Amino acid sequence: MSKLKRKFLPSLIAAAVATSVIAGITMTRVQAADSILQPLAPLDSIEMPIPSDNKYSEAKVVLGKLLFFDPRLGGDASISCGSCHDPEQGWAWAEDFSRGYPGTVHWRNSQTIINSQYMGRQFWAGAAASGEKQAPSAAKGGVAGNGENDIMEARLALIPEYVKAFNEVFGDEWPLIDNAWKAIAAYERTLVQTDTPLDKYLKGDKAALSEEQVRGKAVFEGKGGCISCHYGPLTTGEEYVNVGVPPNKRWEEDGLAQITFRFEQYAKGQTEEGYRKAKSDWGLYYRTKNKWDKGKFRVPSLRYSKYTAPYMHNGVFFTLEEVVDFYNAGGKDEEGRTTLFPENMDARIKPLGLSDDEKSDLVAFLDAFSGEEILTERPKLPEYKALFTKAELEEVKK
Ligand code: HEC
Ligand code: HEC
Repeated sequence: MSKLKRKFLPSLIAAAVATSVIAGITMTRVQAADSILQPLAPLDSIEMPIPSDNKYSEAKVVLGKLLFFDPRLGGDASISCGSCHDPEQGWAWAEDFSRGYPGTVHWRNSQTIINSQYMGRQFWAGAAASGEKQAPSAAKGGVAGNGENDIMEARLALIPEYVKAFNEVFGDEWPLIDNAWKAIAAYERTLVQTDTPLDKYLKGDKAALSEEQVRGKAVFEGKGGCISCHYGPLTTGEEYVNVGVPPNKRWEEDGLAQITFRFEQYAKGQTEEGYRKAKSDWGLYYRTKNKWDKGKFRVPSLRYSKYTAPYMHNGVFFTLEEVVDFYNAGGKDEEGRTTLFPENMDARIKPLGLSDDEKSDLVAFLDAFSGEEILTERPKLPEYKALFTKAELEEVKK
C-alpha cells in the first residue's frame, strides 16, 4: 500500500462509515415521507422486541427491578437508575436537565423508561443500540452513575441474595456485571402502557376520547402536521430531525450546567473548534460528525408525555401548551429563539396558523397518549454480608 494511501486510509474508512450512516438516515427520511400516510395505531399492534440472548423470565425481571433501584450500581452508591427515572416523576426527572451524579447536573432531559424498550436505539440522539447497551453507559457515564465495573461487580458479590439470584437466573458463580444490565433491560421491557384513551379509541371505543380530543386529533393529523413525524404505534418512526429547539439558557447562566456542557462536548469527541465554540447540543452530529446532523434528535414518543414534563432534549418547554405554541410559531419559542442550526431545520416545520381553539383541542388530544400514571413500590434492597467473619479473619492473621 502506498504511503499516501495509508495516510488516508483512516479517513477513507471514516468516510465509508459516514456514507453508510447517511444511507441509513436517508432511508428513514424516505420512509418518513411515505409515512405521512402512516396512521396512529394501538401500541399492542406491535411486539416488544426481545433480543435472543436475553429472553424473558419472571425471576430475571424481579432481579432487574431490584437492580434498577439499587444505588450500589453507581459510583458512590448513592444514585440508582430510579433516582433519575423516578416513577413519581414520570419515570424521568421533572427538571429541564436531569439531576446528575452527586455534585453535577446532567445536560439533557431525563427520558421516561415507560415504553422505551420498543425503541430501536436509546437516548435522545440514539447513542446506544439497545437497553442492554444503554444501562452500562448510564451506570458508568460521568454525569450519570459514574460507576466502575469492578467495584459494582464486587459490591454485588457481597450481597448473598444477589449471588443466589444471579446464579439462578444466569448460572453465574459470582454476579457478572453484564448480566446486571441484562436483568435491568428485561425489567424495563415490562414497563409499558398499551391502554391509553388513544389506544382504546383506535380499537373502536369511540367514547374513549372527548369531543375536544377528537377535534384535536384532526388538527394533529391535518393542519398541525404532527402526524408526519409522530406516527404509527409508537408515535415516532425514530427518525432524526431538527425541529428548531433553541438552546437552554442555563448553559450560559449556570456554572455547573456549563461545566457539564463542555465536558460532554469533549466526551463526545467534538473537534477542538467545536469544543470551544459550541453553544447548543449538536445531537446526532456527535455520532455521524456530519454538519447536516447538527441539532437533530430522535423523534420522541408522545406516549406517557402527560407525566414527563419538561419537554425536548434540553427540557426548554415546561408544558404541552408551550410545545404547541412552539410548533405553531414554526419552531420558535415565545422570544422568537430557535435552533442554532437553522440550515438543518426540517422542511415540515413551518408556521401553522392554528386558532386558539385548535391549539387547545390539540393540547387536549395530547393528553390521550397517556393512560393512568404507572407507579410502583420501591423494592426493599438486599443487604451486604461480609465474605468472612471476624473470627475467620483473625484466624488468617495468626
Ligand atoms: C444521573 C441521572 C441518570 C441516571 C443515574 C440514569 N439515567 Fe437514564 N437517562 C438520563 C438522561 C439525562 C437520559 C437522556 C440522556 C441522553 O440522551 O444523552 C437518560 C436516558 C435513558 C434511557 C433512554 C430512553 C429512550 O427513550 O431512549 C434509558 C432506557 C435509561 N436512561 C435507563 C437508565 C438505566 C437502566 C439506568 C441505570 C443503570 C439509568 N438510566 C441511570 C438520566 C439518568
Ligand atoms: C418534522 C418532525 C416533527 C413534527 C412535524 C412534529 N414533531 Fe414533535 N418532535 C419532533 C422531534 C425531533 C422532537 C424532539 C426535539 C428535540 O428535543 O430537539 C419532538 C418533540 C415533541 C414533544 C416533546 C416530547 C418529549 O418527550 O419531550 C412533543 C409533545 C411534540 N413533539 C408534539 C408535537 C406536536 C403536537 C406536533 C404538531 C404540532 C409535532 N410534535 C410535530 C419531531 C416532530
